[in-house]
Amino acid sequence: MERKDVLIALADIARQRSFTERIRAMFAARQAHPAACVDTFGCQQNVADGQKLMGMLREMGFSFTQEPKEADLVILNTCAVREHAEQRVFGNLGALTHTKKENPEQVICLCGCMAQEERVARRVKESYRHVDLVFGPHALWKFPELLWQVYESHKRVFSVADEHGSIAEGIPTVREAGVKAWVSIMYGCNNFCSYCIVPYVRGRERSREKDAVLAEVRELVESGYKDITLLGQNVNSYGNDLDGEYDFADLLSDIDCIPGDYLIRFMSSHPKDATHKLFDTMARCGHVAKQLHLPFQSGNDRVLREMNRRYTRAQYLEEIHYAKAKMPGLVLTSDVIIGFPGETEAEAMDTVSLVDEVGFDALFTFIYSPRPGTKAAALPDPVPRSEKQKWFDQLLEVQNAKSAAAHAAYVGRMERVLVDGESDDPDWPLSSRTEGNRLVRLKGDKALIGRFANVRITDSNTWALYGEAVTE
Ligand code: SAM
Ligand code: SF4
Ligand code: F3S
Repeated sequence: MERKDVLIALADIARQRSFTERIRAMFAARQAHPAACVDTFGCQQNVADGQKLMGMLREMGFSFTQEPKEADLVILNTCAVREHAEQRVFGNLGALTHTKKENPEQVICLCGCMAQEERVARRVKESYRHVDLVFGPHALWKFPELLWQVYESHKRVFSVADEHGSIAEGIPTVREAGVKAWVSIMYGCNNFCSYCIVPYVRGRERSREKDAVLAEVRELVESGYKDITLLGQNVNSYGNDLDGEYDFADLLSDIDCIPGDYLIRFMSSHPKDATHKLFDTMARCGHVAKQLHLPFQSGNDRVLREMNRRYTRAQYLEEIHYAKAKMPGLVLTSDVIIGFPGETEAEAMDTVSLVDEVGFDALFTFIYSPRPGTKAAALPDPVPRSEKQKWFDQLLEVQNAKSAAAHAAYVGRMERVLVDGESDDPDWPLSSRTEGNRLVRLKGDKALIGRFANVRITDSNTWALYGEAVTE
């Protein structure tokens, strides 16, 4: 694919603005004040997409509500990564028949990764006839045009063609108020891990130009955001599709030169391309949080091969070793799948032993969920769910003990945290994060919200730390 075919032309983005204006004018003529309910599921990439949808909606004149029954437009921005996520969406879609009955003018929209799956789009077309607009991640940038078609034609609109994927710059965004912001640095995935639907619904890897990323981060820092996460399915392959040798470590170095009091995080990293250069750069750059999310998925080499992960247990352990040696105190997290088709108990226990050996600060654990269309979904999967659940529970037991021990080691220490809001616990009214992204519930003044603060850690459990702000 040529670069020029990947980047959406500015004229095409400008054309979308004209649809935005038409929708705004339509509501103004009716003296209506439309409200939208945007419900986002899935990963941070989808959250970032949801913020773009809200940015476009705001320019059309929409306000926002959390209540579908109060909304003129309901958007379900969906995730396809596991079956459970899809079932929830179909449940929510079903419930929207009631809100539409009460307000027949309501427009219902299904977008995100599920919408890009052919079988889902077909099912919605046939069985969820109250849904007006369906579009996948590839069509996100032309949302104003698609919505206009719905308003103008009063017909259902489907835009779910399978594409390589594109990059659209200059789409407005509604960011969460506060200190945290997400910046997509690349889209799509080329890895085709055999269990995973993402490459089928998000297209091939496309990296944004470094200048666009740098400008966005600079703008965020200047507007007061202090905790900025760079997003990609595999940020370590950033730049592979750009001219020259510029890679993700180079991007981190350049971002680090932006002046200000802020932290940079990133996710996810694929172990097959995590380099010593990346870890050396992380260690050297003051703004880069000493935190690494490096999913290993399985601790068994045969299963890793079947998963098409392209690294071994030994290689993974070597990387962790190097990263920890370079960054003492590095906070390490990972993703794991238990019950891949054909996995034996002994193989699952290799995963448990890796967790025991490494001592992750936290783990995102999943039981394998077959995704139609992926390679793994066609493999024999003889182990019953109840057996997988037993292995899964063993994994959790080991990890929970590790998390509790890692957290207990903080007690008595001073930590610099970023206070990001109020908590729901009246005894510890503030919520904050360490540089390593550990949750700290705090006693302290609300005036600290939005600021870095020094705190003494006084208590801990498996999931969080507790502390008191210390005035200097
Ligand atoms: N690109 C990232 C990576 O490779 O680390 C994350 C992709 S995915 C959105 C997040 C996690 O979901 C994966 O790391 C994997 O552990 C899990 N996952 C993906 N497909 C799955 C499946 N079919 N069943 C269970 N878990 C799955
Ligand atoms: Fe899925 Fe693998 Fe791509 Fe991650 S790297 S999104 S797990 S295919
Ligand atoms: Fe993310 Fe789910 Fe799509 S994890 S990329 S929203 S399938």
